[in-house]
Amino acid sequence: MNSYRAINKASIFAPRVLERPYFLSSKNAFFSSVANAFIRLPVLDSMVDKLTALEQAPLSNTAVVYVHHPLRTSLNLLDSMFSLGLAPKDTFVLGKHYSENKWVVQEAKRRGVYYQPCSPQVELARFDESFTHDIHSLWAEVVKQLGERSNIENVLVLDHGGYAINFMPPSITQHFKVVGLEKTSGGLINWVRQGSEPSFPLINMANCATKRFLESPLIAEAVVEKLSPVIPVSREPTTCGVIGYGAIGKAIAEKLLSLGHRVITYDRDPAQLKTANLRKNFLATHDLISLVASADLLFGCSGQDVTYSVEAFRLSSRDKTLISCSSGDREFLTLLQLIQKNSQSGLVINPRQDVIYESEFGGKITILRGGFPYNFDDSGESVPANDIQLTRALVLAGVFQAIDFFRNPHVLGEKGLYALDAELQKFVVHEWLQYQPRNRYTEKVLSNFEQSDWIKANSPGIQEALSFTLESHTQLKLG
Ligand SMILES: NC(=O)c1ccc[n+]([C@@H]2O[C@H](COP(=O)([O-])OP(=O)(O)OC[C@H]3O[C@@H](n4cnc5c(N)ncnc54)[C@H](O)[C@@H]3O)[C@@H](O)[C@H]2O)c1
Repeated sequence: MNSYRAINKASIFAPRVLERPYFLSSKNAFFSSVANAFIRLPVLDSMVDKLTALEQAPLSNTAVVYVHHPLRTSLNLLDSMFSLGLAPKDTFVLGKHYSENKWVVQEAKRRGVYYQPCSPQVELARFDESFTHDIHSLWAEVVKQLGERSNIENVLVLDHGGYAINFMPPSITQHFKVVGLEKTSGGLINWVRQGSEPSFPLINMANCATKRFLESPLIAEAVVEKLSPVIPVSREPTTCGVIGYGAIGKAIAEKLLSLGHRVITYDRDPAQLKTANLRKNFLATHDLISLVASADLLFGCSGQDVTYSVEAFRLSSRDKTLISCSSGDREFLTLLQLIQKNSQSGLVINPRQDVIYESEFGGKITILRGGFPYNFDDSGESVPANDIQLTRALVLAGVFQAIDFFRNPHVLGEKGLYALDAELQKFVVHEWLQYQPRNRYTEKVLSNFEQSDWIKANSPGIQEALSFTLESHTQLKLG
């Protein structure tokens, strides 16, 4: 355990604030109790069966760079790609330290992939630096190893947060056909900010309709379920602040309301707040500082730093607990930087430790899991496998699309941001719904996924028809 020493009023401490460990009760039994075991994901199996019936080993001339959360279901994705002819030795994997499950890493290595170790993060608020360092090391290895192979024509980059594509060495695009896929909206925001796009086709899985409309409630449910030991269950409602009223923020707010808590939400986009169905115990505000002052539990669901008004924390006289539901250590970055400034420098941090800050006025601010997303622990599961296979299947759909793109000179010449194919999304949804409880989604939401045009309209990027389709024989279940 780290021995982080505090200086001045700010303090960063190892002891977990939560005395009660996370446990599997019947309520949250949907998180698998077997942490280190391989599980089958039937949707992925079915997709592989369909594609291999059309063609054997379409990935045999491709190298894959895979940036991921080292969770058990990542192994299913790797195995699916191996079934499509990807050689483990042509697979280069990097995980994120805060979500790493050691068994998953061992299993991936056992399969023969090159696995880039995560470097330790030195000091709070510096995840980006350690991860960028790891990305450079990963690419150095890719360049070295591919230089010794003659069979590889294509490089497929399955990115998570935009780092791998951003730091890709020019020699990769000079020597290989390249297709990228971005899994997170944060990764795409970086391209928008730079006002540029990669010099090869990039598949936009991050904002596809299936991810936005079907995945977000699953994430919110998983975060809240993992948080159940933390969310007070008492007759007294707790005042909760939800910052970022997007797909995940909305689902978190609804869950908290259903548990009888008071919820205040803030979004920097006023249009988002207009979508809130405000009612008793549910308020929206355009003033982040007021929200911070009023709330005891703060949920960061924006994907951005929401502590830039750091004075609201520095001067708080009340205790508060901060929980990230988003990505990396971004959500409470300015506050973490303030804490780091007042703490010992140069120490390696454990990304899963809570960080405690004593404010100028004696308020104890607890940042759970160091500001990394709360549903990532060392269990190897951030969301139950049966649910998250939707996300893994979308990545596999992107792999299928990339296989087609590698053979399409028009697309390879065109570059740009491409929508994840609507027909593949439709197939994934049909298959996945077989394994979902009825009534999880409304009839309206599900019927939208029967319409390719609706999926296209809600999946941003260039639409490019593929040379093949996968037929689903499953009837879509309506609510
Ligand atoms: N924890 C997980 O398992 C998990 C899984 C998937 C995605 N995520 C991450 O969760 C985050 C939210 O995802 P989403 O699907 O809800 O995204 P979203 O784009 O639907 O919602 C984000 C909302 O935050 C608002 N926002 C942005 N910056 C803000 C700021 N500075 N202050 C206040 N509001 C701000 C936006 O206007 C938007 O309404 C993303 O970063 C995503 O990568 C986490």
